[in-house]
Amino acid sequence: MDKMESTRDRLIQLLAENGDAYISGQALSEAIGISRNAVWKQMKELEKDGYQIEAKPRIGYRITKFPDKISSNTLKWGLETEWIGKTIIHHPSVDSTQAIGHQSARDGAPHGTIIVADEQTGGRGRMNRDWHSAKGKGMWLSLILRPKIPPTHAAQLTLLTATVLAEVLDQYDSINPSIKWPNDILINEKKTAGILTEMQAEQDQIQYILIGIGLNVNQTKDDLHQDIQSKATSLRIETDNEFSIKNIIQELLVAFEKSFDNYIEQGFLPIKKKWESYGFKMGKDIVIKTFKDIWRAPFLGISDDGALCTESKQGKSISLYSAEIEWFDE
Ligand code: BTN
Repeated sequence: MDKMESTRDRLIQLLAENGDAYISGQALSEAIGISRNAVWKQMKELEKDGYQIEAKPRIGYRITKFPDKISSNTLKWGLETEWIGKTIIHHPSVDSTQAIGHQSARDGAPHGTIIVADEQTGGRGRMNRDWHSAKGKGMWLSLILRPKIPPTHAAQLTLLTATVLAEVLDQYDSINPSIKWPNDILINEKKTAGILTEMQAEQDQIQYILIGIGLNVNQTKDDLHQDIQSKATSLRIETDNEFSIKNIIQELLVAFEKSFDNYIEQGFLPIKKKWESYGFKMGKDIVIKTFKDIWRAPFLGISDDGALCTESKQGKSISLYSAEIEWFDE
């Protein structure tokens, strides 16, 4: 980081930490070690970049609006959470936020740390698939959790994440999300988000869980990679509107914290009910393909450990963990 950049970052950080309160030019100049005139010049530069700054003579400065661009500071400003997003690691471009997440977690990053990137050059999906993550087009984020729950309950947190994401998207006009088991978010039957959960645990204790969320936001149809064009979508394609990725991240963090705290207090049942209210094909027939068999049976819901509840070929209740499901139309 060069001198100019660090001065500017420090200034934004101080103003952001102060929230709605004013901070005097004198205090800023002393904290950063530059003249008051230099502080004033920096403010003018920030305004050129889309920050709105209120300057009151003899009282000081405060930021009244951050630009829409994603950074650790813009995400933290106005984020009303207790523990999530207190540490935010933002990179313009990374291989995968999951890779950074694992490293940060091993280095001791706290519960609630967020890693977010504008672009991923090696984004990863479930089953070793690629996850296309074009610059500025979507939310590419990983979340480090250190929950005090048994490792066998980890899948519940993936289901919780899918439910929170569905609820956040549901608040937007003309978006009716559903969740395709185990944790794809669909809009109009096309995938708009996916979740990848990875865990480091000992037999009876979780060291950390890394939840990676990819949400297609502002892609047009042409922006979507050819491989996925027929089965994927974005919020923009579905609504004809562009969305603020920064706002979506903030909404997601607030909703996630609330839901996680509730889960720790009340257990999985409320999440399970919500998940099922969004469940794609809930109560309907699906085609189940295992290694050796294929049959049609009703999708009855999810179990406490994240399995899909259905019936065997012979009509007996069963739970499936890794079957390939075909979600055909009636
Ligand atoms: C899937 O549906 O297969 C899961 C996709 C998960 C993608 C996200 S984007 C942020 C995080 N970093 C990654 O490399 N993958 C996850």
